[in-house]
Amino acid sequence: MNFAHRGSLTEAPENTISAIKKAWEHGAKGIELDVQLTKDQELVIIHDHKFNRISPGVPGKVNDYTLEEIQRIDVGSVFSKSFTGERLATLDEVLDVVPREVILNIEIKNIPLIHEGIEAILLDCLKNRNREDNVWISSFDHLALKNVQEQASHYPIGLLFYYRMLRPWDYAKQSGLEVNSIHPNEVYVDEEFVTACHAAGYKVYPYTVNKKHDYDKMIAAGVDGVFSNNPDIFGTSN
Ligand code: G3P
Ligand code: CA
Repeated sequence: MNFAHRGSLTEAPENTISAIKKAWEHGAKGIELDVQLTKDQELVIIHDHKFNRISPGVPGKVNDYTLEEIQRIDVGSVFSKSFTGERLATLDEVLDVVPREVILNIEIKNIPLIHEGIEAILLDCLKNRNREDNVWISSFDHLALKNVQEQASHYPIGLLFYYRMLRPWDYAKQSGLEVNSIHPNEVYVDEEFVTACHAAGYKVYPYTVNKKHDYDKMIAAGVDGVFSNNPDIFGTSN
């Protein structure tokens, strides 16, 4: 089970409807995207907490702007002139275009901004849209995942890890959460790591695996899937 990371970000501006459409048009069975809250508490799909990388010249942070203001920001032209005018997507817009059989891994991006209450807003959105199946929820903010699980226990939960940690599978066990999967940075994943996670009952999905050579290495180590900017490495059948 592999995920197109932030949509298909080599083909279109990351986390936009174009990138997300491209991912599933290519047959991706899973799509990963990042959610944050606007000033008026709307769910918007964006990775960074600022705009300088995707729309240079726009000051401030995501939650300094209302959704209406954010939807006036061009985030396409930095990627390519042909995407000029592309806007950030809302989660609602994503749910409108992504077929139900595609698994969405929604990452709650709660660092460096802590979006108080984002868990309940996300869960309400999914419930109201009747989109409670085929959605996984992950975060580097494990407290946010605890809040999710206390409010809606049926979503598969993925613990994201950036740095190398001592025995993260033990950490997952003692967290008190019902953890489905561990999502580590690929740089330290090897067979020993994967075996230990599996023995503890967790699946392993490293990020961000972009080269075929690295993908093959991860598969040889026994991972259950990967997040990739370059879904070509695993073809469209996985
Ligand atoms: O969910 C995997 C990966 O997206 C986590 O890192 O920084 O790309 O959101 P990042
Ligand atoms: Ca992410």
